[in-house]
Amino acid sequence: MPSASSSSVEPGLFSPATYARVRRPLQSAETLPPGCYTCEAFFRREVERIFMKAWNFIGRADRIPDPGDYFTLDFVGVPTVVVRGKDGEVRAFANSCRHRGSIVAVGEGNCRAFKCPYHSWAYALDGKLLSAPEIDQTLDFRFEDYGLVPIRLETWDGFLFLNFDPGAAPLMAWLGDLPDRLSSYAFEKMVCVRRKEYLLDCNWKIYVENAMEAYHVATVHRSTLQRQKGPVAAKQPTRGQWIALWKEHEGSRALLAGETGFPFIETLAGQAARGTWYPLIYPSTMFGATRDCMWWLELHPISPSRTRLVVGSSFPRKTVERPDFNEVVERYYKRWDTSIPEDNDISNLQQRGLSSPFARPGRLTHLEPLVHDLANWVLDRVLDEAGPD
Ligand code: FES
Ligand SMILES: [Fe+2]
Repeated sequence: MPSASSSSVEPGLFSPATYARVRRPLQSAETLPPGCYTCEAFFRREVERIFMKAWNFIGRADRIPDPGDYFTLDFVGVPTVVVRGKDGEVRAFANSCRHRGSIVAVGEGNCRAFKCPYHSWAYALDGKLLSAPEIDQTLDFRFEDYGLVPIRLETWDGFLFLNFDPGAAPLMAWLGDLPDRLSSYAFEKMVCVRRKEYLLDCNWKIYVENAMEAYHVATVHRSTLQRQKGPVAAKQPTRGQWIALWKEHEGSRALLAGETGFPFIETLAGQAARGTWYPLIYPSTMFGATRDCMWWLELHPISPSRTRLVVGSSFPRKTVERPDFNEVVERYYKRWDTSIPEDNDISNLQQRGLSSPFARPGRLTHLEPLVHDLANWVLDRVLDEAGPD
């Protein structure tokens, strides 16, 4: 495939033979070669074949509750604006002016229309071009041809997903049986109360792998999460573009050991009532759905070794309306503000080690099945022989 970096692609980078050992069953498998985490050509291929085709999670619709509320993001190099229209619909557009291409919307906020900061072309909240100063002498100009370019956006229970591929199957096909399996959490009745961003010095896969294995907990979180009791989280059967761990335990997984918090979600049933779900929605979104709340880890890959992490915390509206909410929620924030920096730090250290010319593929334990699953899911899509989804 021609690309700016194709001349520097090392031979065999996208050849299935290079990855034969990653393809073996878990007990015999090697990890992905270090270049998969460090090399620009591999990252560009992931962007083209994964992130430009997947349903990418970008947060909660309650971030923009009112008409005119908007936020912007740069997702794998695509500047995007997400806005709630006058009709209450949430839409996404390429954040590039149709005149000469400037960013149209900056940051986040509320507006009645988007006015380009360069020459003041103005766009309605539904993307239509409203005005273009001095355009009257330009021949054959039709306003309807120069609206903001729409990007597909679909929602599930208040969660927003973008897709840059106009031909992609709907979000619900991507999510498979996840909405059914997690329906008793009643996510649609939740409110995001805190959204925190971090800039990581690691590849996006390193962070996903960390979140999807419990092997590191005894070491990385030895004086924090390790004190939570219960059997090891186990891989669950799933259908769709997601995989998951589920852990049986008492209490909430969003609190440090010994802390008490809010009442449990009233509607919980089945496994959700007996423990915590940790789904990975491919490619790079992790949820922690526990008995009193949910949190998410949302990744925006920037380069092979840079990733933006967004951590969102959501609670049932009924919980948020409690008079003691602000006081008690601090115990939850303490848990996340302890464990997440521990995961961030170890992920950055892993990236440094993997960047060495002496780094080599490793082997996996029985506690890392989802690390193996992710590697193979990525290879299914990026190697030369990989077919379309
Ligand atoms: S680039 Fe936006 S108005 Fe000129
Ligand atoms: Fe961790």
